[in-house]
Amino acid sequence: MRKRKILITGASGFLGNHLTKLYLGEAEKFEVFATFYNNHPHGLQGIKLIGINLGDSNTTKDLIQKIQPDICFHLAALSSPDKCHTNQELAKSINILGTKNLVDSLPVSCKLIFTSTDLVFDGEKGWYSESDSPNPTNYYSQTKLEAEKITNNFKGIYCIVRLSLMFGWGDDNHQSFSDWIINSIRGEKTIGLYTDQFRTMIYVKHAALILKWISESSIKGTVHLGGFDRISRYNFGIQLCEAFGLSNRLLRPVKMGICNGKAVRGRDCSLSTTRLIHELGIKPYTIKMGLEDMKRDDSFSSQQAF
Ligand SMILES: NC(=O)c1ccc[n+]([C@@H]2O[C@H](COP(=O)([O-])OP(=O)(O)OC[C@H]3O[C@@H](n4cnc5c(N)ncnc54)[C@H](OP(=O)(O)O)[C@@H]3O)[C@@H](O)[C@H]2O)c1
Repeated sequence: MRKRKILITGASGFLGNHLTKLYLGEAEKFEVFATFYNNHPHGLQGIKLIGINLGDSNTTKDLIQKIQPDICFHLAALSSPDKCHTNQELAKSINILGTKNLVDSLPVSCKLIFTSTDLVFDGEKGWYSESDSPNPTNYYSQTKLEAEKITNNFKGIYCIVRLSLMFGWGDDNHQSFSDWIINSIRGEKTIGLYTDQFRTMIYVKHAALILKWISESSIKGTVHLGGFDRISRYNFGIQLCEAFGLSNRLLRPVKMGICNGKAVRGRDCSLSTTRLIHELGIKPYTIKMGLEDMKRDDSFSSQQAF
């Protein structure tokens, strides 16, 4: 039987690395191609790694013509809202043009899975479903919504997966929110965490696994992927400390207030994942489950250098 060809963009990133690792040991079924830009990933034996700037249309077209993927996970992005806020040209070139270059080059026989964000919503309502109208509050979410529109023009089957904020083990180049909390506490640094910003946070490995299931399912269109619990950043910090036996004395509860040159984020961008749970027939993933798995995977972060 012909092996299915999988293309993962942004494999050196936080989510991309966890997703790509799910295909290790599946060489009999899949031929996996995974892209990076500035940071060459390690520990991905058997995966074909490709350095590419997806903002460049000719190189992207050549790559797609060569691979002719059956499934493409498009994760690559400038994913920091603050970096997008201060470097809008760069954000546009990868988040918008990069997506357009890919969509214009992919064969219609390919299934495209594009990762968008809960931040396309303004956070005034919370528990957003797929039928709610987006209203981005910062440049990052504007570029992601623009990329959603481009993906909607893809002639093949596609799925736009709007993700909630993820936690889990990242690396030096792609630190997660939970890495930042743990590193700050271990470095004896006091940090302020918002008590009035809510998300349906999900463990990155759970999100990666669900993305893989989505690619194998008949789900198409737009779908929300988040965790079961709506939680503030501060309360997440408290639960993280409890799970890892860390003192929470360095966590300071703060209100969102003025953004001081940072990107504006909505107050409550929690996502309803009812559609996904019903159509995939999966259980909801809680913060507690995520933290338990994250503890179990602790060796993953320290031993498997990226
Ligand atoms: N992290 C979250 O909590 C979260 C929440 C909601 C949605 N999302 C979405 O999920 C996706 C993955 O997020 P993430 O946190 O894993 O991102 P990330 O860690 O910042 O990784 C971004 C990836 O994009 C690659 N990249 C950047 N510019 C590129 C370019 N010009 N050409 C090719 N590749 C380029 C990076 O490559 P190098 O590192 O090699 O330069 C890296 O592999 C993104 O689409 C993001 O918008 C993330």
